[in-house]
Amino acid sequence: MKRTVRAALDEAASAIGAVDARALATHAWDVTRAWLAANPMQVLSETQEARLASLVAQRTLGQPVAYLTGSREFWSRDFAVGPGVLIPRPDTETLVEAALERIGGEASICDLGTGSGAIAVTLACERRRARVVATDASPAAIAIARANALAHGATVEFREGSWYAPVAGEAFDLIVSNPPYVAAGDAHLARGDLRFEPRGALTDESEDGLASLREIVAGATGHLLPGGWILVEHGYDQADACRSLLAAAGFAGLVSLADLAGIPRVAGGRRE
Ligand SMILES: C[S@@+](CC[C@H](N)C(=O)[O-])C[C@H]1O[C@@H](n2cnc3c(N)ncnc32)[C@H](O)[C@@H]1O
Repeated sequence: MKRTVRAALDEAASAIGAVDARALATHAWDVTRAWLAANPMQVLSETQEARLASLVAQRTLGQPVAYLTGSREFWSRDFAVGPGVLIPRPDTETLVEAALERIGGEASICDLGTGSGAIAVTLACERRRARVVATDASPAAIAIARANALAHGATVEFREGSWYAPVAGEAFDLIVSNPPYVAAGDAHLARGDLRFEPRGALTDESEDGLASLREIVAGATGHLLPGGWILVEHGYDQADACRSLLAAAGFAGLVSLADLAGIPRVAGGRRE
């Protein structure tokens, strides 16, 4: 016997939880959450049932929901994601908020390690007259970020290469980065969604997870205009280390900003 929306959702929820079940059902059936709520007694076709069952099976094996649906919301916009890029995290909105507070309309911005383009595309959308350059060492990430910029009508210059190499000789009003900062031996790398995300987006293989942050902070003065800001996201236990790196590099007006859970996750400073 064919099943109703409610019966299929209940069964999926018992395997993967109600939130993930709804997210996968909206994707599998190409409907909205409002439609699910309004049509609990709708009878599903075999194809619809099979589509949801396949996604639930993959989720049960640990595949991130965002990779199964192909998108994740960031700063109220949908970003295409796939196994080649980090899934944007709500915590990173703290970095975007801090960036928007510090730049005017015509600022020049450099996003290092852009991934899906979540930060660069959001800043370009929120500051239409800004000049935004975004770099990443991963060609797969650059391709996805480019598609996201196109989808949101954002003008971003994408360049492939390691940290400052693609912006040699250039200086900006703002440098932002959410680099890999998980320590190489951190057990979280073997848990949850992180198992499926590109390792190079999560860790730079350093023992303390700070190698990329060291390189980015050390190189920032040479790529910032006078009065320009650097803002970096870091791990929950790296705030003091980042502050020391910024102070050692000669930055003024050091700031430490907390994420939605109240944990310091963004550090920044101003070039005098
Ligand atoms: C934590 S992810 C951040 C992605 C995105 N900015 C975000 O916030 O969702 C780090 C990104 O840095 C990139 N990356 C790693 N090493 C790099 C390097 N040496 N030079 C440039 N990008 C690098 C990775 O490919 C990845 O896209």
